[in-house]
Amino acid sequence: INFGQAQFLTSAPDIRKLPADQGIEVAFAGRSNAGKSSALNALTRQRQLARTSKTPGRTQLINVFTLSDHQRLIDLPGYGFAKVPLEVKLKWQKSLGEYLQMRDCLRGLVVLMDIRHPFKDLDQELIHWAVESDIPVLAVLTKADKLKSGARKKALMDAEEAVPGFGGDVRVITFSSLNKHGLPELESTLNSWLTQ
Ligand code: GTP
Ligand code: MG
Repeated sequence: INFGQAQFLTSAPDIRKLPADQGIEVAFAGRSNAGKSSALNALTRQRQLARTSKTPGRTQLINVFTLSDHQRLIDLPGYGFAKVPLEVKLKWQKSLGEYLQMRDCLRGLVVLMDIRHPFKDLDQELIHWAVESDIPVLAVLTKADKLKSGARKKALMDAEEAVPGFGGDVRVITFSSLNKHGLPELESTLNSWLTQ
């Protein structure tokens, strides 16, 4: 797959407004500010495809990108942002759960977590939901450039020890949008999900 050919298709306010449940979809999820949009831009080699921001909670809509007529990438809104009203948070958590349970075309979930504080409660809940729905998960430890090599390896080893606890198909990589560390691994996983 040539990820460079990704094109913005639409922004959906909730899962009911997504395109028809056909073809193959892979979604990017994670806490606000985890680096979802930056990872999508690194993957697609487009600096501005997905909006990035220093202000957490920037991506409120579900952004849909097409790779071909039957393959899509989904940038889900970040969760866990403190300043969002509780009501909005709960509504979003509910629809995230629904999306993972109901969306037939979803073939893989990329869960992005800052390498310095991975596997927060909502991250774990999301991974549990995916496993329950038989959706494979790639846990991506982002901003790996923020750690020295020793600390980075330790973080990866700790995460690799944690993931069997979820059961299901959950793997971990370290990643940096800044220096493209981990990009080949991200690409090969997405390739396999999108072409199966
Ligand atoms: P929301 O849309 O708010 O949920 O955030 P997001 O997960 O899409 O995060 P985004 O990609 O907008 O990145 C958030 C901040 O982290 C920005 O300031 C990015 O420049 C920074 N950032 C993202 N990836 C990396 C990385 O790999 N390394 C470093 N050093 N900074 C990063
Ligand atoms: Mg974003």
